[in-house]
Amino acid sequence: MIETNQTNSRDCAKGKVIVATTAPINIFDPDVLVNPYEAYRQLRDGPALHHVPEMNVHVATRYDIVREIIRDTEVFSSEYTVFFEQLRAVGIASATPEVRAELERLEQQIIPPVPTMLTLDEPGHTRYRSLVSALFTVKETRKSEAAVNQVVEETIASLGDAGAIEFMEAYAAPIPLRVIGQRLGIPEEDVAMFNRGATAAASGLRLTPLTGDQMIERAQTAVDLQNLLVRLIEERRSHPTEDMISILANSRLEDENRLLNHGEILSILGQFLVAGHETTTSAFGWAMLLLCRNPEIEKNIASDPKMLATFIEESLRLEAPVQGLPRLVTRDTAVEDYKLKAGDIVFLRYGSANRDDRKFEDADQCDLQRKKAGAHFAFGAGVHACIGAPLSRQELQLGWTALLRHGKNFRLAPGKPEPQAEMSFILRNLPELHVEFDLR
Ligand code: HEM
Repeated sequence: MIETNQTNSRDCAKGKVIVATTAPINIFDPDVLVNPYEAYRQLRDGPALHHVPEMNVHVATRYDIVREIIRDTEVFSSEYTVFFEQLRAVGIASATPEVRAELERLEQQIIPPVPTMLTLDEPGHTRYRSLVSALFTVKETRKSEAAVNQVVEETIASLGDAGAIEFMEAYAAPIPLRVIGQRLGIPEEDVAMFNRGATAAASGLRLTPLTGDQMIERAQTAVDLQNLLVRLIEERRSHPTEDMISILANSRLEDENRLLNHGEILSILGQFLVAGHETTTSAFGWAMLLLCRNPEIEKNIASDPKMLATFIEESLRLEAPVQGLPRLVTRDTAVEDYKLKAGDIVFLRYGSANRDDRKFEDADQCDLQRKKAGAHFAFGAGVHACIGAPLSRQELQLGWTALLRHGKNFRLAPGKPEPQAEMSFILRNLPELHVEFDLR
């Protein structure tokens, strides 16, 4: 059994159990967001759901409860955008009148967002999902293996003979960003703008407070990214190619006999950008931290390379890059004996369900022999299960294979700040990770 990336959770193998405190747990407290696993454990031992008055949400932390809610899409709707609007309002509440005026001016240039997959229920959800699902099949992913491998090899080459790197910037971020950029079909000359825009789009889900200037810069970047994508959509309508933008630009909603409009395409592309880049970056980072803290992982994979796939699944399970997402309750209901009213927001914590001992034996441990290691919720489940999971797994598999061929004895670089998650309701990011290794 292997120690995991946590400082304060139960260690099953050694029999250490931290006694539950009676203080009310606010799962959105900054300290808890950064290090949530002990709080999750305490909540899992309590009622089916847990009310957080500060946010007025009901949090689901147990595996069976999360699964039940995900499956019942009639009662637990994905049309929860109102929740994000509230969060956004809180985010800009501190802005001065001048900053707000500038933000409003920029916002007027944004094409109003149209809910497509992630935040839409049936039948609308399937209408859009079936248009893009062909882009992400296992067969399609196999076809793209050579292109992903090339990105990986170029990133390895960019490391040169350095034996010390900031892993997130040098390796974890560029691979998913370049892969999604290529799949979308971003021309070389627009890549820098695209990278800035994709990074800013994902940062919208963070809770790190921004200055007025940063808010304006982010809003301006969103406008620039939108303008770039609209230009590419129009270009691909007149000159179709084989990339994702081209396919979306020329896709038809057969029941309405029309092409997708800009709002719809931008909404789908936005999901690919945020979901397709930041999450896989985090997955690389958390896995590297796990590896650095547990040198036996490297030895085990070296003696049995098949263990790499389990290592990737275990790292996704233990540090779910998407820690949680909301659902909107559509009618009065109860989960076990916990009562909910229509209009309530339930917050699914995938990161907690993945560490539920009722589902995974010694759930806080990375177990390279674990059977059904992929049964976690890092990619969600049910109708909204992650469409990009095959692509992500491919990037992680190829990325790790190349890295472990390039270097060995991966370890945390001494004298650098302790790696720490960024504060976010939704994502679990690792902004900085300094590592050292020996070249092979
Ligand atoms: C390690 C990487 C990734 C993680 C952890 C992840 C996680 C998730 C999760 C948890 C969901 C479920 C949402 C829900 O329950 O409502 C989801 C949905 C989704 N993901 Fe991913 N994702 C990853 C990579 C990707 C990639 C590479 C893409 C595309 C390029 C992508 C595109 C999407 C889309 C479009 C949805 C919405 C699907 C729907 O609502 O039908 N994701 N993802």
